[in-house]
This record gives sequence, C-alpha cells and structure tokens, in this order.
Amino acid sequence: MTTLGTPLSPSATKVMLLGAGELGKEVLIALQRLGVETIAVDRYDNAPGHQVAHHARTIAMSDPEQLRALIEAERPDLVVPEIEAIATPVLEALEQQGVVRVVPTARATRLTMDREGIRRLAAETLGLPTSPYRFCDSLDELRAAIDGDIGYPCVVKPVMSSSGKGQSKIDGPDDVERAWEYAMAGGRVSHGRIIVEGFVDFDYEITLLTVRARGADGAIETQFCQPIGHRQVAGDYVESWQPHPMPPAALARAQQIARAVTGDLGGQGVFGVELFVKGDEVWFSEVSPRPHDTGMVTMITQWQSEFELHARAILGLPVSTALKTPGASAVIYGGVDAAGVAFEGVDEALRVPQTDLRLFGKPESFSKRRMGVALAYDTDVELARERARDAAGRVRPVTR
Ligand SMILES: Nc1ncnc2c1ncn2[C@@H]1O[C@H](COP(=O)(O)OP(=O)(O)OP(=O)(O)O)[C@@H](O)[C@H]1O
Ligand SMILES: [Mg+2]
Repeated sequence: MTTLGTPLSPSATKVMLLGAGELGKEVLIALQRLGVETIAVDRYDNAPGHQVAHHARTIAMSDPEQLRALIEAERPDLVVPEIEAIATPVLEALEQQGVVRVVPTARATRLTMDREGIRRLAAETLGLPTSPYRFCDSLDELRAAIDGDIGYPCVVKPVMSSSGKGQSKIDGPDDVERAWEYAMAGGRVSHGRIIVEGFVDFDYEITLLTVRARGADGAIETQFCQPIGHRQVAGDYVESWQPHPMPPAALARAQQIARAVTGDLGGQGVFGVELFVKGDEVWFSEVSPRPHDTGMVTMITQWQSEFELHARAILGLPVSTALKTPGASAVIYGGVDAAGVAFEGVDEALRVPQTDLRLFGKPESFSKRRMGVALAYDTDVELARERARDAAGRVRPVTR
C-alpha cells in the first residue's frame, strides 16, 4: 500500500532528485502533482529542476562528503539519481544502512555510471548480444585490441562519459591516435580508460522504455512502452519518434533483452534500454536506470509520459504504458554561448498545428546545449517528425 503525505508537514513524502536538468524537472513536476515534497539538487544554481521544486540545493554530487551530508540533513524517503556523475558508493552505503531508498537501486546507479559495469553485466553475466568490445588504458592497448578481434570500423568511448562526449568512430589505422586523444579530453575523469566497440551496422536504433512497477498483488511487474526511434548526431539525440515500426520477432527479442537487464538491475522505475536492430537481430547497447532523453517524445505520445511513469513507479503506484498517438520530438539547441538568452519565434513555432513546446529555463546557453524541445503528434510518425522539426526550427535563441 502506498500512503502519500502533505508536503511541508511532518507527514510529507520527500523525494530528492540528484540532477535537476530537463529530465529531472519533468519528474519533479510529476511528483509535485501527487503532493510529494521535492528537493532538487544540481551542481549549479537555478538549474531547470530547481525552479519547480520545494527546495533547491547546489552541491558537487560527485563529492562523497557533500552528498552524504546533504542526504543526512534532508532525510528524503527516496533518492532519485538523474545523472551519472554521482558518488555512488555513498548511495550504496546509505541504502545498506537503511537511511534511504535509492531509485531504482544503488547498485544499478553504480553499474550504469560507467560503461564497463553495465557492459560486463549485460554481455558476460547475462549473455546478452552486444557489439564486440575491449577496455583499454593506453594507446598501445587500443591498437592491440583493434588489430586483435575488434577490427575496423570501430567506436572509441571514454568509460565515464555521456551524450557522445569524447566518442569517435575509427575507420582505419590513421584515425586511432586522434580517437584516443579525443577520448582522453572528453571523459568525465582525467585518467583514461576507454571502451573500443566493433561498429554495429544496424538498420535503426531504438530506446525501449521499460517500467518496473508494483502490480495489484504487490509484486513487481515489467511493462514496455512502444519502441522509440531516434537519430543521433555526434552521439547526441536530435530527434525521436514513437512508435518505431518493428517486425514482431525483433520486438519480442528487444523486450526479452530489456526484461533481462532491467530485471537484474532491479528496483522500481523507468529504464531507457538502448538497442540496435538489423532485421530480426537485436543488440544491447546501454541502459539508463531513469527516464531517457529520447523519451521526451512521450510527453505528447503517451497518456502517462515517461516522467509520470517514473514518479508513479517509484512511489509504488500503478502505471499504464499505453500509447495515445504517434508523435515526435525535435531538439532546440542554444546556437549561442551566452547567459540569459531569449527565445524568439515561440508563437510561430506553436502556430504549427498539433505541436507543443518545452523550454527548459537553463540559465546559460551553449551553442550545442539542449535548451528546449518541440513535440508534435499526427496520424503517423513521419508527418509528426516534419511538424516537430518545423516547430523547433522556428524557435531562435538570441542574446539581448
Ligand atoms: N558499437 C556501435 N556501433 C554503431 N553505432 C554506435 C556504436 N556505439 C555507439 N553508436 C552510436 O553512437 C550513439 C551514442 O552512443 P552511446 O549511447 O554509447 O553514447 P552515450 O555517450 O552514452 O550517448 P547518450 O548519453 O546520448 O546515450 C548511439 O546511439 C549510436 O548511434
Ligand atoms: Mg546512449
């Protein structure tokens, strides 16, 4: 049974979001609607989620001392990581001591914060199909791995990175050193460990949002959203759509893989399972134990967006993954490096029929920073993609 309290009173149900970007902001809004008391944490002031939570806190979440002190001071019922760069050993210790419940589990946040933990779990423990891979700590090791069983083309990524940072494709021997240097510069931590993966020549890639939520009998049930197709440029998503059509055998295989990996990670909540598909063949790529950026499209396509699903699932409430309509999302980039930008053309964007818009409210814009997203629905995803791109293109960030 789930009992929810009154915020800002002794009965309050308190949830702390570690990371208060655009995804955290939407989870916070979903929690607010259920009368949950929310604490938004980020490493800079006035982050998107800070602006919609009861309490805003600014700390370095990768610093174990700061993280522990904040959780012990606030005593939330639930801690919900929204980003990867968190001092996860602190979460494991506090979860073990029974101080907090971590979503989905502290172990899942540790295993998915670097590419090695999750890749070894998926490929070596669970036996799921992945690209061939090696972990390397030097340029020489990288060369040896490629000359060994990886071959060309291949992809190099820092083990600690996200959104395509430090990631590049290698087509031949001339690219190897440049890819190594690029990975060293782009990782979250300076010491260089990378993964080199054989390039998967997939037809398309999907995010399979997978929800672990409590059923009527109290047992955890696994439910799947319709597959989300997306287009990545330089490792960062630029548009997504739902549903992505798939042959039944490939969809069944994708769900089987997603069930296996989320089942092992455990806990309750939404997972974004990233998969590559070619014909009926499916490869596991990676998983976020939280809502996924490509899943922002669900704000227009599903009765319960991935953020509402996450809020409900973590609180022990029932969920529905039903699709409302085909739709699409298109990212709005900053285009300029400046603080306090203004957005022109919002009215023109919203004049595109069957569209909606989110502007995240980030205090500082960078040319490649995601500042907003356009959403659109239509009778099929191709029409929706056109509408979303059209609307996104009409929003122009400007400096005043
Ligand atoms: N082995 C591979 N073969 C082919 N394409 C790949 C491979 N690995 C990555 N890619 C491409 O690069 C994209 C980004 O890779 P990946 O998801 O591993 O990086 P990421 O930095 O975690 O990105 P994000 O944080 O945006 O999910 C993938 O969505 C896919 O398009
Ligand atoms: Mg990814």
